Amino acid sequence: MNIQENISLKSLNTFGFDQNALFFTAADSVESLKSALTWAKEKELQVLILGGGSNILLTQDFVGLVIKVEMRGIQLVGEDENHLWVKVGAGEVWHDLVCYAIERNWAGIENLSLIPGTVGASPMQNIGAYGVEIKDIFDSLEAMNRSTLEMETFSHGACQFGYRESVFKNKLKNQYVICSVTFKLNKSPNFQVEYGAIQDVLRQKGIEKLTINAVSEAVIEIRQSKLPDPRVIGNAGSFFKNPTIPQNQYADLQARFPGIPGYPSEAGVKVPAGWLIEQAGWKGFKSGDVGVHAKQALVLVNYGDGHGSEVRVLSEQIRQSIREKFGIELSPEVNFI
Ligand code: FAD
Ligand code: EPU
Repeated sequence: MNIQENISLKSLNTFGFDQNALFFTAADSVESLKSALTWAKEKELQVLILGGGSNILLTQDFVGLVIKVEMRGIQLVGEDENHLWVKVGAGEVWHDLVCYAIERNWAGIENLSLIPGTVGASPMQNIGAYGVEIKDIFDSLEAMNRSTLEMETFSHGACQFGYRESVFKNKLKNQYVICSVTFKLNKSPNFQVEYGAIQDVLRQKGIEKLTINAVSEAVIEIRQSKLPDPRVIGNAGSFFKNPTIPQNQYADLQARFPGIPGYPSEAGVKVPAGWLIEQAGWKGFKSGDVGVHAKQALVLVNYGDGHGSEVRVLSEQIRQSIREKFGIELSPEVNFI
């Protein structure tokens, strides 16, 4: 176990905020993870589990041990007539897994192309894009209980997936480290191309015969056209979740704001937070070196020398203005540290 001291996390979070970890180590196996957690427990230190740092907002130094999850490996562990079970180390890069599957014609994961981060973090918020969430291809995961240091298996049901939610963000927050995830992929594709934007790109490219590679390329093109590349402009993707409001509240808002978009969901109507933020006048806003992306108002950005606490303040200002203008409460998607 190699424990380093006073390590900058700047290159380890996609906002690019320059906060330090008092102690830092990488865990590339279950054994090294156990040693690191034991070391932190003996020293009574807080622990932060880090994947690709693409969904965190560092607002201060972390006075504890940061453990970067680096367990690797992609293994085909089962197969039947229609499905393939693939077990993946938590430290694998998500998009590398997507490419690996597409190269082998394993279907189900193509709509989730180019989402930053690691496989281990993917169940945390049930990552999703363009009509697919990981709950649609998830089989089970193995995680270390941070108190007992024992490995436990979580079935689909036990993860309690919801929209950008799982049990690991709620009841079991900070209690487990996900070490591997097993996905159930399809031998034959079941294309999810209802999103208008995907169809537009496929049409523009003249694609008549759908393939998982064509869907992946279309998703990549759409994402690159509106989401800032964190290597160029620091960001963590959507900063807030899209809120769901009751049908009657939506009807009232429609009367006041006739253009308000909304999509029926189980609990009411889901309203795009990006639309609300744009209507409240924030799109392209800049204060110091932080701001609201000019092409996607749901993405808060660091132009280089910003500070995480400035993004936190900006996010509070945005929440307040959305509360005042629309009577809607926005919840952050990003994890504040
Ligand atoms: P990190 O940011 O390192 O960690 C996120 C949280 O998970 C932290 O609380 C951390 O402690 C915890 N964690 C990480 N790994 C583990 C583990 N192995 N065990 C236990 N806890 C762990 N998300 C979407 O859902 N859909 C999108 O379309 C999307 N687009 C994005 C686009 C951009 C440009 C960016 C920057 C982000 C986007 N995101 C999107 C958010 C982000 O990619 C996902 O949330 C991703 O799963 C985060 O992975 P990570 O490894 O970077 O996690
Ligand atoms: N919109 C605006 N102005 C904006 C941005 C969006 O008016 O500046 C409106 C438009 O009406 C647009 C609608 O919002 O049609 C939806 O926008 P978009 O398709 O860009 O998707 P989103 O709702 O902003 C969600 C996810 C993304 C995911 C995409 C595609 C959340 C919080 N975000 O964004 O996930 O990639 O859909 O499925 O659900 C992430 O979680 O980090 C993330 C990027």
